[in-house]
Amino acid sequence: MAKLVLGIDIGGTGIKSAPVDVEKGKLCSEPVKLSTPRPATPEGVQQVLKEIVARFAWSGPIGIGFPGVVKRGVIRTAANMDASWIGFPARERFRKTVGRACAIVNDADAAGMAEMRFGAGRSFYRHDGGTVLMITLGTGIGSALFVDGHLVPNTEFGHLEMDGRDAEKLAAASVKTSEQLSWEAWSERLNRFLQKVEFLLSPDVMIIGGGISAEWEIFFPLLDVSARLLPAQMGNDAGIVGAALACLRDRD
Ligand code: BGC
Repeated sequence: MAKLVLGIDIGGTGIKSAPVDVEKGKLCSEPVKLSTPRPATPEGVQQVLKEIVARFAWSGPIGIGFPGVVKRGVIRTAANMDASWIGFPARERFRKTVGRACAIVNDADAAGMAEMRFGAGRSFYRHDGGTVLMITLGTGIGSALFVDGHLVPNTEFGHLEMDGRDAEKLAAASVKTSEQLSWEAWSERLNRFLQKVEFLLSPDVMIIGGGISAEWEIFFPLLDVSARLLPAQMGNDAGIVGAALACLRDRD
């Protein structure tokens, strides 16, 4: 019988969820997409979590991706969420809210794990897989670093400084929209960001994810890095699938 986990991807703008077959890396139904409450406080988000669990009438395991640093179930940063998340013992509280244990991990680590297991990183998910860096471009910029198939959790390359600002404030996909940047103008920023990360890490492979990666054929030719550049393959499902996979790890 398929092993099913409810995957929930908490984002700065939306909260997406679906039951996931964690052996196949596939959603078992259309994802439910709800807006992230404004302000995006722990209380507001917990109401949404309750609603999701009720909608799916879910009584099985739950894995959650959160857009910030998560150490042993406690939220440590929340750049695009309400500041009251910082220090919030999410694992413990969510357990009370939804009535069962939840695994909780960083959202980009979740998406990276999904791509490594089932998507663009499949062939590098092994003991000699080299250094693979997944970059997610959305509201912010997330990163997931894999060394020979092992995740180094909670890397935050989106907050590297560029032109005196957080790189994600210049090069996230949301900035292309909010500043109405042309592909050329946005790609120039993204390229400088990727070159900076490359200088620091020398990854063998960079996987570019987030909704905008569907348009990779437009902007990959404008990028100039030595690493092998691959578009993510799991689209918007990566965050949900990866959140569900978090349940299979014995520590987060
Ligand atoms: C957060 C990261 C997160 C990324 C993508 C950043 O602002 O600091 O933890 O992975 O946004 O959501």
